[in-house]
Amino acid sequence: MRREFLKYLLEMPFLWLGIAILAGLIFIGDTITDLEIAFAVLYVSVILISVYSGRTGAIAFVGVACGVLTVVSYFLTRHGASQAGLVNSTLSLLAIGATTYLAIRIERLDARARLAQSELARMSRLMIVGELGTSIAHEVSQPITAIAANGNAALRWLSATPADQDEARRAIERIVMDAGRAGDVIGRVRGLVARSAPSRDRIDLIEAITDVLELVRSEIRKSQILLRTELASDLPLVTGDRVQVQQVILNLIMNAIEALTEVDAEARELLVSAAADESKITVSVRDSGIGVPLATLDTIFDAFHTTKPNGMGMGLAISRSIIEAHGGTVYAAPNFPHGTVFGFTLPLDAKVRG
Ligand SMILES: Nc1ncnc2c1ncn2[C@@H]1O[C@H](COP(=O)(O)OP(=O)(O)OP(=O)(O)O)[C@@H](O)[C@H]1O
Ligand SMILES: [Mg+2]
Repeated sequence: MRREFLKYLLEMPFLWLGIAILAGLIFIGDTITDLEIAFAVLYVSVILISVYSGRTGAIAFVGVACGVLTVVSYFLTRHGASQAGLVNSTLSLLAIGATTYLAIRIERLDARARLAQSELARMSRLMIVGELGTSIAHEVSQPITAIAANGNAALRWLSATPADQDEARRAIERIVMDAGRAGDVIGRVRGLVARSAPSRDRIDLIEAITDVLELVRSEIRKSQILLRTELASDLPLVTGDRVQVQQVILNLIMNAIEALTEVDAEARELLVSAAADESKITVSVRDSGIGVPLATLDTIFDAFHTTKPNGMGMGLAISRSIIEAHGGTVYAAPNFPHGTVFGFTLPLDAKVRG
């Protein structure tokens, strides 16, 4: 208890020195003036100053000390009518008591507000860390899934009689490509954490889209999806982070595949297109899948919005942040007569924000 008290004193020496001097002056004034003057009411100011200490214990201590000084000076004051003195001292004590009570309450509310604020700061830090973790897992899990699938395919080709070495070699080449992509993604994420700017590659979107389609080819075939592409042959290059833009295309196509597996096999159609006008390139992924309720289209890009049992709801959120960092926009609209079209635009003079 005494050590606590000393700690208070040492933390804010000038505050306590000021309080002691003021209380001393009031005590002297209260003692030498006659009892008809309620000098002790001035102790209220001392208590209010003690609120700066930010400690309810210290405020209570100052309040009690002021009360004690008031009583002591009542007995030390010799002259004046004692009846009026008694009334004045009682009034002063009431004022001191009420002020102390209110000051303690104010301090309690303040402390609660400070606590809420720091809790809020802690929670938003946690959310950022959590989102980052989720996005790392998300970005890396797709190439790893593809690696596993191609590994299995290679094993099958090799154990077939006769073994098909060409197909096995192609599957292994895809594995090497995916491993490289996973490595790239990890490098990018590390860059993101280190707040380095995304790289500024000259991206040929046709090539980027074709690469991604190569990745999902077996998935599309397995799901019996009819794939069409409409890629304008003379697309200008855009500036940006190639791996990130491919990640977006992959996210949109994976979502489309997942939406298509929910409908009858005869009705599964996927159209990937890219076209340019004077100011931008538009890439769109159009599916005839289960579609998105109109009311949901507005919030579909929000993080953690998912309708899939194993979904994280991060794919579209990450895609939007990547595209916006490239100065582009994302959009989603119903497809006619079934399904959805998701797409993005990239400005032709893309400036990548760091
Ligand atoms: N092409 C689509 N057709 C129908 N619904 C879609 C389509 N694309 C996205 N959605 C809906 O939007 C939701 C959010 O998509 P998003 O890709 O962000 O998350 P997810 O696919 O659920 O999980 P993950 O983080 O693994 O990608 C999906 O759960 C799905 O309900
Ligand atoms: Mg998704």
